[in-house]
Parts: sequence; structure tokens; C-alpha cells
Amino acid sequence: MLFDVFARVRCRLDILNDILLQRYHCKHLPSRAEDVIVDDLRGKTCVVTGPTSGIGVTTARALVKRGARVVLACRTPSKAEALVERWTKEAAAVGTAPPDCAVMALDLDSLASVEAFAKAFQQREKRLDVLINNAGIFDMSGAYVRTSDGREQHLQANFLAPALLTMTLLNALRKTGAETGDARVVFVSSKLHELCTGLNLSDMDFKRSSYSSQAAYASSKLAEVLFVKALDARLRAKAPGTRALVLHPGNIVTGVVRTLPMWLQSLYKILFERILLTADQGARCSLYCATRTEAVASATIGPYFTSECEERTPSKYALVEGEAEKLWRYTLKELGLEDDII
Ligand SMILES: NC(=O)c1ccc[n+]([C@@H]2O[C@H](COP(=O)([O-])OP(=O)(O)OC[C@H]3O[C@@H](n4cnc5c(N)ncnc54)[C@H](OP(=O)(O)O)[C@@H]3O)[C@@H](O)[C@H]2O)c1
Repeated sequence: MLFDVFARVRCRLDILNDILLQRYHCKHLPSRAEDVIVDDLRGKTCVVTGPTSGIGVTTARALVKRGARVVLACRTPSKAEALVERWTKEAAAVGTAPPDCAVMALDLDSLASVEAFAKAFQQREKRLDVLINNAGIFDMSGAYVRTSDGREQHLQANFLAPALLTMTLLNALRKTGAETGDARVVFVSSKLHELCTGLNLSDMDFKRSSYSSQAAYASSKLAEVLFVKALDARLRAKAPGTRALVLHPGNIVTGVVRTLPMWLQSLYKILFERILLTADQGARCSLYCATRTEAVASATIGPYFTSECEERTPSKYALVEGEAEKLWRYTLKELGLEDDII
């Protein structure tokens, strides 16, 4: 009991330390997101989910600037279209090539929407080099919300739907991996996965256990870390050239606080703007994992990176023997996928 309290206090202090010192720890990194990318990405196709707010915008923008074709997988296409229009004007103003983007609808609250996206993607696009599962929610209002599929919203939007998206696009990624030796799927998790002291696979929906949105968020983010471990192990055995990585982007001023009352959102920005990372800085780790050779060259299975763009050990609950495999089986069952999908 005392040990548990001590472990929880230590975990929170560690998270606080990460928030307060992240700028210092990241000072070796370029401040512009696109400068993390060293290769010319012309000829590559990347999918970025949640590209219409926060670090999704800066991630997609940096990939576009480096010449990649970027599919903006979003739930509000009008927002993504406005971004493409802005980027087109910016490119024209400096005389560079117009952005090579496609806007496609994807609502993670609906598994049917994920399947429709994957089908449309396969019909329209010729290849897939990188999938960045960036979209996510942290409903700070604390309300228990169910998706249209009847699942707790953090579980579905942060974990199950991105897992389905990954599985349905896996063949496209594997094809590129086999041809070029480099295809990647990147999951944007969070250091808050450390607040989850183990997944409750018999109640991932919090139907029977006591609910808080923080607990649901942490559980969904730990699920991402474990899922990547199971997926990457399979990719390394069966799909040479294709890898899965997971990361904590840092603590960033974004729209993630949108569920708080307006006055609290303003207070959050005033209080934290000087401590937290900018959206541009918050995109660096996603871009590092998605594009840099070093990220995969010496990485362990299902590597977990942090805002410093360095591989770190995730929470001890992500390292428990057999947990990743149990989650893998749970996920396939929940999504109605066959064991031999990979
Ligand atoms: N900000 C941080 O400090 C922080 C820290 C650790 C991890 N993260 C993770 O970083 C990722 C990006 O977060 P952010 O901070 O940039 O948040 P954000 O500004 O709120 O952006 C989230 C993006 O996800 C999209 N999205 C949300 N629910 C969706 C759904 N059901 N279907 C499709 N798209 C959906 C949003 O679309 P709309 O624009 O249409 O709303 C938006 O584009 C998340 O996975 C988050 O958990 C953030």
C-alpha cells in the first residue's frame, strides 16, 4: 500500500520534471520542425491523422515542405482544405512548389469511417511510406462519452481506431517496405501512459471500473505503447523494411485543452506558454521517428521515443512479460481481425 502511494508520487514528480525541464533537455534540437528531416522526401507518401490542429498541423506542414505527398486524414475536411489553401499561397509567395496534399475524411469515433478511409486510400493512392497516427483526444471535462460504435471515446479514438487504420493500411506499408527497405508506422502516445498501472483487458471501456478521463487517456496511451511492441515484433519477423515506433511528443500548447471552459483554456495558455513546447517543437519527435534513419537503425523492438528524439524505456507496465501479446489478441478480437493478418 505504502509502496503504491510512493510509486504514484514518484510517477507524478517524474511527469512534472518532464514538463518543467523539457525545453532544456531538447535544446540540442532544431527549433523549426522541418529541420529535423534531413532527407528529400519527394516521391514518398505520408498519411497524417489529426492534421487540423496542434502538432498534427506542424507535422504535416514539415513533411510537405520537404517534398512529400501528404494525405491529410481528418474529421473536418473544410479545416484541412483551408490549410492547403494557406500553404499554397505561402509557397507561391516564396516561389516554391505548391503543396502535394490530398484531403480525406477520417473520423476515429467510427470504425466504419476508418474502413471507408482505408478503402478510398487504396483506390486513390499509389503507395504508402509513412503513417503517423497523431490524432487523439484528452477530454478534460471528465464526462464519460461513448462513440457511435458504443465504446469509451479515449479507448476508440486514441487506440482502437488507429490500430484498425494501421492494420487496414499494413499491406500498402509492407509493399513499400519490401521495395525500398523503409516504411514506418508511428504512434503518437504520451508520457501520461505512465499513469496507467496496467491495462484491464476485461474492462478497457471502464464499464465496471471507476472512471476518470485521465485514467481512460492513460490507459489508451499505454495500449498504444504495448500494441507497437507486438506489431513491431511481427514486422521485424515477417515484413523486413517496415517498422512501428511510438513516442511522447513533449508537453505542448495545443487544442488538447479544448474541453475546458474558455477561461481555463486562457489561463492554461498564460501560465504554460513559457514552459511548454510550441506546436512546431512538438512535431519534432514524430518527424524524427517518421523519417530519420537513426530512429530505426539501432532501435529495440517497438521503440519508445521522447521529445528529445531519443529512445527511452517506457513505463514498467509496458515492459511486463506477455502484456503486449495479450493486448494484441484483445485488439484483433475487438476489431474482428484474423490472427494471420500479419
Ligand atoms: N499537447 C500535448 O501536450 C500532448 C502531450 C502528449 C501527447 N499528445 C498527443 O499528441 C497528439 C496530438 O495532440 P494535440 O496536442 O496536437 O491535440 P489537438 O490540438 O487537440 O489536435 C488533435 C487532432 O486530432 C483530431 N481528432 C480528434 N479526435 C478525432 C477523431 N475522433 N477523429 C479524427 N480526428 C480526430 C483533431 O481534429 P479536429 O481538428 O477536427 O478537432 C485534431 O486535428 C494526440 O494523440 C495527443 O494525445 C499531446
